[in-house]
Amino acid sequence: MTSDGNWISVAKVADVAPGTAMAVETMGLQLAVYHLEGGDICVTDNVCTHAFALLTDGWLEGGLIECPLHAGQFDVRTGKGQGAPIEEDLRTFKTKVENGEILIELPA
Ligand code: FES
Repeated sequence: MTSDGNWISVAKVADVAPGTAMAVETMGLQLAVYHLEGGDICVTDNVCTHAFALLTDGWLEGGLIECPLHAGQFDVRTGKGQGAPIEEDLRTFKTKVENGEILIELPA
């Protein structure tokens, strides 16, 4: 992990196969790093907002992650919950890729 101002490196793009999500714990954050089929990289909190489950144990399909516990879904680009049982959206992080590293901007 390297840091650059408020941006920290959380993973290498090559470590997250397209169409998959990877759990990363760093600086007290539990993150889900997604590499979508089209190449987009997104990062959200990894803990579901409904109860306690790690979203990276769920299923990623077409930009949606489905929670393994009660099948709630979130849009991984926006964090938006996709209906019951989700009542609270997921926190997302500003993300960029530099030299093959995935960086997120730390919350203020
Ligand atoms: S814990 Fe994720 S939907 Fe219930």
